[in-house]
Amino acid sequence: MSGKKRIAILTGGGDCPGLNAVIRAVARKSFTYGYEVIGIKDGWKGLVENDPAVLDDYAISGILPKGGTILGTSRFNPYKEKQNVAKLKSNFKKLNLFALIAVGGDDTLGVANKLYLQEHLPIVGVPKTIDNDLSATDFTFGFDTAINIATECIDRLHTTAESHHRVIVVEIMGRHSGWLTAYAGIAGGADVILIPEVAIDMKEVVKALKARRKRGKPFSIVAVAEGAAFKKSKEILQEEKLDAFGNVRLGGIGQVLAEKIDRMTGFETRTVVLGHIQRGGTPTAMDRVLSTRYGVKAAELVHQRKFGYMVSLRGNEIRPVKLQEAVAKPKTVDKELYNVAKVFFG
Ligand code: F6P
Repeated sequence: MSGKKRIAILTGGGDCPGLNAVIRAVARKSFTYGYEVIGIKDGWKGLVENDPAVLDDYAISGILPKGGTILGTSRFNPYKEKQNVAKLKSNFKKLNLFALIAVGGDDTLGVANKLYLQEHLPIVGVPKTIDNDLSATDFTFGFDTAINIATECIDRLHTTAESHHRVIVVEIMGRHSGWLTAYAGIAGGADVILIPEVAIDMKEVVKALKARRKRGKPFSIVAVAEGAAFKKSKEILQEEKLDAFGNVRLGGIGQVLAEKIDRMTGFETRTVVLGHIQRGGTPTAMDRVLSTRYGVKAAELVHQRKFGYMVSLRGNEIRPVKLQEAVAKPKTVDKELYNVAKVFFG
C-alpha cells in the first residue's frame, strides 16, 4: 500500500458522453490532494465483485473527448439481493477506500443515497443522464450532446420529408420526462412535440398537421418521446421484462403514432427511432466543460468530507445538494417550456 488516501470512482446506468471527462477531472483534482485514484468497473457490479482498475495519469490521458466510459457501466442494483450490499461494504473496506464518487442517474444515485444513509459509506454523487430528469440540478451532463445529435437528425429528416411531402415521426429517448424531445424538437423546428408529461390527443395532432398543409406546407416533423402515451388508450409499447431497477424498456410509440397519423390524415407518414445514437460519440464542448466542473467539484467535496451530497448546476454555479433531495422525484418538463414549443405546432 502506498500510504496515500485512496478514492474510487464508478459510472453506472446508461452511458452518455462526458463520463470520461468526469473521470479525468476527478482524478486530476484528486492528484493535487495527493490521493490515489482507482476506478470501479461496470458500476455497482464492480464493487460487489471487487473489480477495480488503476486510474493513474497514463490511464486518464486522452480520454476527454471520448464517448462512453473507460470504466464500463451496468444497470446492476446491489439492493436486489441483500448479500450484495454486505459484499459491497466488505470490498469497500478491503480496497481501503477513503471515499467513493458515483456518477449516474436516478438509479445509480438512488443506490448511492441508500448506501450513504443506511450503511454510512462516504459517497459523493455526480449527475449524469441524457434524459436531464434529475431533480436539484438545472442540467445533467450528456444532455447537451444528446440534444445536439437529435437536432441534427431532425434537420436531416426535414429535407427528406420536404422532398417527399411526408410526415416523419421521430422517436426520441426519455423515459419519464420529455426534456430531450422538447429541446431537440424546439431546436429542430418540429411541428408537433409530444412528451410523457402531456397525454397525446390525436385530434389535436391531426388538427395541427392539417392546418400546416393548409398553410402550404405539405410536410411535417413530429417529435415524440419514447415514454409518451395516448390520452384515450394507454397504448405505449414496452417490453415486459424489467431491469434491476424495475425500469421497462420503451420503444415503439413512434410507429404506432405514425400509423394513426397516416390513417387519420391520409398523409404518407414514416417513422425514425433515434435510439442509442443519441448516447454515442464525443461530448459537445458544453458537456466537456460541465463534466469537468462536476468532476473537480466532486473531488473537492471528498476532500472536505462533504459526503451524502451530489454536485449540481444552479444557474451557472456548481453547488453541492443532498443526494436525498436529488433522487426524491424525477424532474419533469415545465409548462413554460412546453408552451413555447406549442407556439410552433401546426
Ligand atoms: O436513461 C437514459 C436512457 O437512454 C433512456 O432515455 C432510455 O429509455 C434508456 O436509457 C435506455 O436504456 P438501455 O441503454 O438499457 O437500452
